[in-house]
Amino acid sequence: MKTNKLSIIITAAALLLSTVVIDACKKDINPDAFTGGTPYLLIIPSGLPKMDIPANNPLTVEGVALGRKLFYDPILSANRTMSCASCHNQSYSFTDSNKQFSTGIDGIKGTRNAMNLVNLGFQKKFFWDGGAADLESQVIGPIQNPVEMHESLANAIHKLNTDSVYPGLFKKAFGGDTINTSMLMMAIAQFERTMISGNSKYDQYVRGVATLTAQELNGKQLFEDASKGDCTHCHVLGSTFSDFEFKNNGLDSIYTDPGRYKITLLASDSGKFKTPSLRNIALTAPYMHDGRFTTLQQCLDHYNTGFHYGAHLDPVLSTAVKGRMTAQDMTDIIAFLNTLTDTAFINNPAFKHP
Ligand code: HEC
Ligand code: HEC
Repeated sequence: MKTNKLSIIITAAALLLSTVVIDACKKDINPDAFTGGTPYLLIIPSGLPKMDIPANNPLTVEGVALGRKLFYDPILSANRTMSCASCHNQSYSFTDSNKQFSTGIDGIKGTRNAMNLVNLGFQKKFFWDGGAADLESQVIGPIQNPVEMHESLANAIHKLNTDSVYPGLFKKAFGGDTINTSMLMMAIAQFERTMISGNSKYDQYVRGVATLTAQELNGKQLFEDASKGDCTHCHVLGSTFSDFEFKNNGLDSIYTDPGRYKITLLASDSGKFKTPSLRNIALTAPYMHDGRFTTLQQCLDHYNTGFHYGAHLDPVLSTAVKGRMTAQDMTDIIAFLNTLTDTAFINNPAFKHP
């Protein structure tokens, strides 16, 4: 417990040193719902929204530390070889190390690109198709997925209950002598809520402690310009860099993966996927739900000339003129996107293997 407190103090101190304005505070702790453990002081850098933390799962020092341990522990996979971190590598903003598709424990590849785990606590729905309605329920997806950790929940819980250390750690975080699925979901969700990125060069620029080059500033302006990038329409400039809505950005007109449609069964949701945050985008190649593009230049080429006019294409793109961006415009937007890299996040000791 002491080390956890210490690491929070160190993280807080590190954030202070890098002149982050801290909007920390009591409002982020929910003492009313608090049932045990030590309240965790969540620090939200200025510029990011307030985080809605479910009243039945307040962050505690013990819960966050437990979630972090579980995130890195292969015990949750059937043959104990794969942890969440196997596919979500901190150095790549928690994506799978430049891989298009991740390989699960049985050597089988999935069909979607591992997602960037950044600022999850501000989002409402999870996975490319929004198939998980909250962070807690997202946790059990990869554990049970046959192309990922391929473990039954019953067995995962059994392994935790018969482990030498987990029963004691769960008891400290949630009380009770027997570990159950809810506790597992809650612990990992708590850790995920602490994975906050808000100290990129762009954030420092907004706080007035860093300057953007003329090219980066031009890229920012083109990102917003409705007759040029118009990226901000979906990847809202500032804060989370996403509307977290489901949009069809014209990758295909015939879909191998129908995206959001899989969940809602509404024809109008065909080919729609969650707008991903662009934070740390320089670190998360390849790109799109199926990792089809290996470079940011290919992404820009897609939005400039490559998008398909399908029936469900978002109106922002169906009315956009092809070829509206010059090569220089695209280079400048990429320079701006590079300012969204947060090296403090990918090196944050609080998110590393405990
Ligand atoms: C075999 C690789 C693999 C493993 C192991 C894995 N993930 Fe993932 N993760 C993915 C892929 C691929 C996606 C996208 C899945 C989709 O959209 O269908 C994803 C999506 C997610 C998302 C959604 C992010 C968002 O923005 O919506 C979260 C959160 C997440 N994983 C957390 C975890 C946790 C927690 C674990 C461990 C319990 C884990 N993952 C294990 C590959 C993996
Ligand atoms: C109509 C909404 C919309 C607009 C406008 C838009 N995007 Fe996207 N963007 C999306 C969606 C949705 C995805 C995910 C699509 C998928 O994977 O199927 C995405 C994916 C991306 C990705 C890949 C992210 C990742 O994690 O793989 C990048 C990079 C990107 N967009 C950059 C841009 C840039 C730069 C612009 C402006 C030139 C732009 N986008 C305009 C909705 C939009």
